[in-house]
Amino acid sequence: MSCRAVARNRSATQIFANHELQHAIKIARQIDYLGGMPCVLPKPVKTSSDPVAMLREDLENERATVGRYRERIRQAEAMGEYALSETLRVIIVQEQEHEIDLAAALGIDVPLPKEPAGNQVQSKQ
Ligand SMILES: [Fe+2]
Repeated sequence: MSCRAVARNRSATQIFANHELQHAIKIARQIDYLGGMPCVLPKPVKTSSDPVAMLREDLENERATVGRYRERIRQAEAMGEYALSETLRVIIVQEQEHEIDLAAALGIDVPLPKEPAGNQVQSKQ
């Protein structure tokens, strides 16, 4: 990967990080509205000195994130929490864009959706 490509991906990563912070704030507000307490312990982040490996890890994380949002949207709909569902739908659009951008940066197709156990997608149409 060229220095220019690394710089371009660094800029994209900063934009993605800003999106993720905004997502966290929106979700925290929804949790607060529902009377809960947001978790403040982030999952461990895998790092690498290899930019391509980092992009692959980031893509895998985005893929898993989209899968979790799909499940949370289904749960919110089932509970009749339509404002929460709408908030999550706005977020999942950006998360899917992150997936697309990362896959494009890696020169690969967007991988199949990652669904929670029991909700596996069989093929991409
Ligand atoms: Fe993301």
